[in-house]
Amino acid sequence: MEIGIFGTGYVGLVTGACLADLGHTVFCIDIDQNKIESLQNGHIPFYEPGLKELVQRNKNKGRLHFSTDISLALKPIIFNCVGTPMAEDGSANLQYVFSVVDVVAKSNGFKVLINKSTVPPGTAKQCQERIRQINPTSETHVISNPEFLKEGNAVHDFTHPDMIVIGSQNQEANQLVKKMYSGLARPYLPVIETNWETSEMIKYANNSFLATKISFINEIANICDNVGADIKTVSKAMGNDYRISPKFLNAGIGYGGSCFPKDIRALVTVAKNKGYEAKLLNEVDSLNKRQKHILATKIQNHFGQIQGKTFAVWGLSFKPKTRDVREAPAFLLIQWLLDNGAKVNVYDPIVSQTSFGDNVTHYSSPQETVTGASAIILATEWDEFRNVNFSELCNIMTDKVLFDGR
Ligand code: UDX
Repeated sequence: MEIGIFGTGYVGLVTGACLADLGHTVFCIDIDQNKIESLQNGHIPFYEPGLKELVQRNKNKGRLHFSTDISLALKPIIFNCVGTPMAEDGSANLQYVFSVVDVVAKSNGFKVLINKSTVPPGTAKQCQERIRQINPTSETHVISNPEFLKEGNAVHDFTHPDMIVIGSQNQEANQLVKKMYSGLARPYLPVIETNWETSEMIKYANNSFLATKISFINEIANICDNVGADIKTVSKAMGNDYRISPKFLNAGIGYGGSCFPKDIRALVTVAKNKGYEAKLLNEVDSLNKRQKHILATKIQNHFGQIQGKTFAVWGLSFKPKTRDVREAPAFLLIQWLLDNGAKVNVYDPIVSQTSFGDNVTHYSSPQETVTGASAIILATEWDEFRNVNFSELCNIMTDKVLFDGR
């Protein structure tokens, strides 16, 4: 099948490369000329394991194309994968989504426009109405088909989904989307076929639940600290209850990234605009913001005065296997350390720059960060931190303390 994709960000590029690998011919379009040029030269604008090889293989086979020419994306199947940044009031800014809709609306012939970006319930309906207003004879049908990709594992998540969700108001369009995904079909892969609003809501409900699970276990961890209980054992035991499951029960310094914080706030705002106050989700978000300061409190309580002391911060990205530092807890901690007169050494396996400039010193190994340090602060659980020889590090540290945020 011929497929057009608007937006070569995280979602668009992974979707395009994986669909090409299923044998489709895919045209990825972006307004950013530099990005397209570097993709044509085989350079991936972000870090994602396995993606570079996938892009290269499908480019070589002539199934994956990159261009700024939007007419190339006007195929029978079109994905809308442009960004939905957070507006000032917490809602999702849909201006880029609608600008794609406006382009597609003007083209004729049977088309399916798939909203892959996370958009609030009601967006697919708005898109379809917009198309009808611009071109009353349009044969474009809007579909909601949310993604469930985790950064660092996105290629595997696309090729081995837990489910495919299709929100549609048109049978023919629905069938075409199912056919497009037939390369992923397995006897046990559920395909949820539903209406637009339900499909859009499923994505928000999933992310809200996972964020709630994290804030819940962080709340339990904070109570554990106060009563002398061990959160790791509590969490492990809870995960043995099959109704709970062990996933997303790892307590720490809070969730970050581009999805959870943004999506929870967007859903709270959607609900508020409809007259419902989502108090639980509001608290999930508030607790997460407080959780990001929890190590600062522990460091303060341990040392009293931190001015003039050196701290080694391990990990900058919001989680391992990504370069993404959006809403990463490490940054709040570093800012707090600097504000309080501490010296900060940092190491991250792939993030080598921060907005702190010369105020922090970057090193190329965890070992190098600790010379003269009063404590190590583990902010991101990269695998390589598991194999550090702590006995050796103790010889070169001023104090031998580890604050484990993960
Ligand atoms: C998430 C969703 O999982 C994905 O389905 C959606 O499409 C996009 O948002 P992602 O943001 O890549 O994916 O990260 P994820 O692996 O889900 O982790 C989110 C955050 O939760 C990270 O900051 C992580 O450190 C934190 N987390 C996760 C915990 O603090 N504890 C856990 O037990 C699990």
